[in-house]
Amino acid sequence: MTVSPLPYPLRLAGSGVVLREWRPEDLDDLVALLDEPDIARWTLMPSPFDVESGLAYLRRAHQGRVGGSRIQLAITTDGGSPLGEVLLFNVRSELHEAELGYLVGRPYRRRGLASAALSLLTGYAFDTLGLRRLLLRIDRGNTASMSVARRCGYRPAAEPPIQQAGPYGPTVLDTWEYVEGRPGTQQDRRRNVASRRYGRR
Ligand SMILES: CC(C)(COP(=O)(O)OP(=O)(O)OC[C@H]1O[C@@H](n2cnc3c(N)ncnc32)[C@H](O)[C@@H]1OP(=O)(O)O)[C@@H](O)C(=O)NCCC(=O)NCCS
Repeated sequence: MTVSPLPYPLRLAGSGVVLREWRPEDLDDLVALLDEPDIARWTLMPSPFDVESGLAYLRRAHQGRVGGSRIQLAITTDGGSPLGEVLLFNVRSELHEAELGYLVGRPYRRRGLASAALSLLTGYAFDTLGLRRLLLRIDRGNTASMSVARRCGYRPAAEPPIQQAGPYGPTVLDTWEYVEGRPGTQQDRRRNVASRRYGRR
């Protein structure tokens, strides 16, 4: 299918997670999730992330969704309370390429949620949107995010590092890619994530 505009609304379920649209009533949960040092450190969110930031964030998310320029979904286990977020943006239709991102609230980490959400959206981007190369930009110091990427079948790409100025000083982002056709990639992604949810190994 064509990827422009991106489908809205969207609900994706699999690997033990339900990805759903953000709702206005998620404001308090959103602020609680995003007002956190690791999120500020690795995603350059405003810090402190207060109610004003949350309102602006939800407004922008809604505009991006209605306009079809991005996918921005709350990570839940059952369609209820948001525990994190996964995104697809910077779509370059002519190259069949897009960028993805993710975050999970501190109390909900290390349960496989980010891996499940990234895997699900990666599969959707390939199987339904017809994208052929998916990218992550990950700070070299962000061990957790690199583990998520690796577990979902992403690998470091041969692209120059991106220098970025942040509130904690200069940072270097590496590009990770998920490319269809690499032997075993999709199978590995699904097997890894399915067998490792919530500590099942
Ligand atoms: C990165 C982040 C999304 C991981 O979420 P999560 O739900 O805890 O990740 P998962 O439970 O799916 O873990 C996946 C892998 O990461 C590893 N991991 C998770 N947190 C880790 C940490 N703090 N240190 C080392 N490894 C970590 C897990 O052990 C697992 O590795 P494995 O496959 O080798 O077992 C979360 O820590 C976060 O939101 N961080 C702040 C925002 C951020 O960095 N976003 C990414 C920007 S590129």
